[in-house]
Amino acid sequence: MELISNKKNLDDMVPSEIVRELDKFVIGQTKAKRTISVALRNRTRRKRLPEDIQDEVFPKNIIMIGPTGVGKTEIARRIARLSNAPFVKVEATKYTEVGYVGRDVESMVRDLMGAAIAQVRKEMAESSSELVEKRVEERILDLLIPNLKPQDGAFETKVENTRESYRILLRSGALDDKEIELPPAQRKPGGIGIELMTNGNPGDIQEAMNSLGSIFGNLNRPPRKRKVTVKHAREILEEEENEKVVDQDKLIDIAKDRTEQMGIIFIDEIDKIAGANTSSSSPDVSREGVQRDILPIVEGTKVNTKWGVIDTSHILFIAAGAFHVSKPSDLIPELQGRFPLRVELSALTADDFERILTEPANAITKQYRELMKTEGVDLQFSPAGIRRLAEIAYEVNTMNENIGARRLYTIMETLLEELAFSADELNGQTVVITPEYVDSRLADIVRDQDLNQYIL
Ligand SMILES: Nc1ncnc2c1ncn2[C@@H]1O[C@H](COP(=O)(O)OP(=O)(O)OP(=O)(O)O)[C@@H](O)[C@H]1O
Ligand SMILES: [Mg+2]
Repeated sequence: MELISNKKNLDDMVPSEIVRELDKFVIGQTKAKRTISVALRNRTRRKRLPEDIQDEVFPKNIIMIGPTGVGKTEIARRIARLSNAPFVKVEATKYTEVGYVGRDVESMVRDLMGAAIAQVRKEMAESSSELVEKRVEERILDLLIPNLKPQDGAFETKVENTRESYRILLRSGALDDKEIELPPAQRKPGGIGIELMTNGNPGDIQEAMNSLGSIFGNLNRPPRKRKVTVKHAREILEEEENEKVVDQDKLIDIAKDRTEQMGIIFIDEIDKIAGANTSSSSPDVSREGVQRDILPIVEGTKVNTKWGVIDTSHILFIAAGAFHVSKPSDLIPELQGRFPLRVELSALTADDFERILTEPANAITKQYRELMKTEGVDLQFSPAGIRRLAEIAYEVNTMNENIGARRLYTIMETLLEELAFSADELNGQTVVITPEYVDSRLADIVRDQDLNQYIL
């Protein structure tokens, strides 16, 4: 039941390849990358075992420990992007114990299945995009030339010719702005209303509200003809035809399989629900209660979703937290046992900053260069200028709160503030960021403790 995808399947990637992929975006943190890549590989290895043994091998869940802004979330986000695995990122602090208003912990599994559904639906639609395109074209042609009905042979040829000339025009885009009238949208039976009724989970208020919103939205809008441009019609019809080619049962089957076997749930801020309840903002909702609710999901349980029951036994959980105040050992013992792998991410140095500024595929200096290019300004960073920026970021992190690589964003913003404001006047010019430029913009602010607390 595998679908073709242009992404290299995570299944085929060995740990060193996964690490190499991560290296493109995350600087340093080698230990964390290695641990995660091994955990991911182990799931693939498990799938190659005989089925009776497979069930006995559980994922090795991971806790990433490290100060703020050093790449914990970034690693998880990249893992998700480079793999075909359904992925959700949730914040432990968003959950409340069963019975209290707020998100119930099971919603993370529903969200994961939702992500898988969206992912698989997209792949299925893509794999039949040619068919869809063809059907859309025929439907638009039907609408453009509705009154020609073939009767005898000669007429038929004429109709065919007309249709083909229209097809050529249509493909050339010449008819894009022409208005046509679409028949009322073909709505599928069932739909959201029924999903809401059968979704027996009262906790997820947000989800219920959204569904209600769309029910009323639908009631308010009775189906009627829509007058739209050909260009717009193409989009609408594409969506309708996509819906038709995607086999819903197969979609759900594949998504369910992928969720259960390959799904990854990233639980951020896990440290905030560890430890004693003393500083909890709401005395009613105990942190330990949330941990106890999360436990069965991590241990393996069945969760009801509107697409059916999901078994969570083999979902991989990656938790992350700064653990400044609490420690992993402050988590309830059962939960600790379910997260056997611990990796520490290190605080970032000036050398790391230097690389983070320039190396990642989406490095922030590259982003600013592109932004300035749109104004006709050639923005360049001299290596010494980069070094100076990295040193300043490190210095400010040491003097004030250490916010890791996030400091680079505030510094860069301050550095380029004036340039960003007057870029339009510099059209055609080259601006080089040298150490002198950096100092002229930042030195005073860095020196003034009061000022840099607010600005950098
Ligand atoms: N090692 C790194 N290499 C490249 N970029 C990094 C690195 N660490 C952090 N960043 C960048 O800094 C920003 C913050 O990082 P991230 O969201 O991963 O922090 P975090 O470790 O999850 O922190 P928190 O504990 O506050 O959630 C991101 O934009 C990320 O791209
Ligand atoms: Mg984070």
